[in-house]
Amino acid sequence: MKFTSALSSFSLVLLLTLTTSNALLTSIKEATIDEIQLAFKQNQLTSRQLVEYYISEINRLNPILNAVIEVNPDAIYQADRADYERARAKTRRGSMLGGLHGIPVLIKDTIGTKDKLNTSAGSFALLGSVVARDAGVVAKLRQGGAIILGKASLSEWAAFRSLNAPNGFSPRGGQGKNPYVLSADPCGSSSGSAISVAANLIAVSIGTETDGSILCPSHANSAVGIKPTVGLTSRAGVVPVSPRQDTIGPICRTVADAVHVLDAIAGFDEFDPATREASKYIPYGGYKQFLKANGLKGKRIGVVRNPFLSSVGEYERQAFESHVRILRQGGATVFDKLEISNIETISNATRSGEAVALLAEFKVSVNAYLKQLVVSPVRTLADVIAFNQKFSDSEMNDELGQEIFLAAEGTNGIGSLEKAAMANLEQLTKDGFQKLMWDHELDALVTHGPGISAVLAIGGFPGINVPAGYDEKGVPFGINFGGLKGTEQKLIQIAYGFEQLTKIRKPPTFIA
Ligand SMILES: *[C@@H]1O[C@H](CO)[C@@H](O)[C@H](O)[C@H]1NC(C)=O
Ligand SMILES: *[C@@H]1O[C@H](CO)[C@@H](O)[C@H](O)[C@H]1NC(C)=O
Repeated sequence: MKFTSALSSFSLVLLLTLTTSNALLTSIKEATIDEIQLAFKQNQLTSRQLVEYYISEINRLNPILNAVIEVNPDAIYQADRADYERARAKTRRGSMLGGLHGIPVLIKDTIGTKDKLNTSAGSFALLGSVVARDAGVVAKLRQGGAIILGKASLSEWAAFRSLNAPNGFSPRGGQGKNPYVLSADPCGSSSGSAISVAANLIAVSIGTETDGSILCPSHANSAVGIKPTVGLTSRAGVVPVSPRQDTIGPICRTVADAVHVLDAIAGFDEFDPATREASKYIPYGGYKQFLKANGLKGKRIGVVRNPFLSSVGEYERQAFESHVRILRQGGATVFDKLEISNIETISNATRSGEAVALLAEFKVSVNAYLKQLVVSPVRTLADVIAFNQKFSDSEMNDELGQEIFLAAEGTNGIGSLEKAAMANLEQLTKDGFQKLMWDHELDALVTHGPGISAVLAIGGFPGINVPAGYDEKGVPFGINFGGLKGTEQKLIQIAYGFEQLTKIRKPPTFIA
């Protein structure tokens, strides 16, 4: 496996040395962070060339894909500065560049940046709002040397406005498209983050998840998405849904890229108290040490089929069975035919209590977010609802209501109803996922697709999606590995081991 990646780095460099711009462009396409860093190091590529390449690809493909809402007008300047810093570091012994130095990143439009970019959650209501400071993860990205190339599109307000809005749609971003099959669902809500890495509009991206919003678009767009343990990455400065469930994570083309990004963004942030507790999970030396090709060896993995395979085609079913065999071949001990108790209840947000909890949490936390903005045309959820009503032609198509907003506005803090709902969610987690993991001493549960997201969401647990195949029509699907809190290092070993044995991802072909 090592040899293969060395070989592809070599061909990247070889192509770059031809210096014709066509060869340069072909080789940047699909390039990993490691390959880009090597090309930087060997003076075969500059950050400026990389940024210019991605901007030209965004100009070419975004009219079809609607994956990007805004491009940072300062990105070229930041790239020049990165190139200058790299050149200077070479002449100074011991000077260290961050792990993402000179690497362009797209971030979901809910993640605040203190620069020329707007942070609007895809909504015109937030246009012109000014954040107090960079979001915690953005500050860490910049510390790591990354260039914030722009804002990725999304399902508006992280899919927490309307029950009828299609996945990947926002008034500011338009309808995001699946680059594999343009008519296929891109899923959401971090749709633009997944579409843009899939279609090579960017090196790596960041998404957010409350329930499924990283795992599902990663699954639908053949990407690797890491949904970290709640609190492992800071939520400060991000348009919220629920402090109990929200988490921020990478969406990339490979497990290694996602891990490099996770290393950059995980950790303590004074503006998100949950990071104090969760940062104890971060291993000394970070997560990249767990990118080992034999990562499946000795792992205990539980297989849950029901109900995740019940509604999918024969093609996905067979792929899943073959992947379970690959886990065994890779040296994992597989515990087959496991069931998560009360899975039907957990999968129904109304029955589990998740919906009750999220509605009240959303109102409280989005009001707090709007209040602390330096400048904003809207200061409360009620203002946003009024804005949507007033500008119903641009902001709301007739079919696009704001039922979730209205239901949230009708709540009144975390009362006895909400507390009971949260207690129920905790009990469902204890009796379900946690019990199964403990009973069999599992390192991970594996499932088809992102159906497990509710289980992971209500417990604050981590999960990783890895590309697992394409159906008869060419629509991608993924495989998910979920684990207990703070077990990212095991999930990374498993996901990387699986990816290295399968290498399923291929670039999209834009089937009409
Ligand atoms: C932010 O929004 C304002 C107002 O619409 C717009 O003029 C500006 O170009 C936007 N910024 C970027 C970087 O697109
Ligand atoms: C979820 O549960 C509610 C309340 O029990 C029920 O009315 C609804 O039909 C369920 N939804 C689905 C998709 O099963």
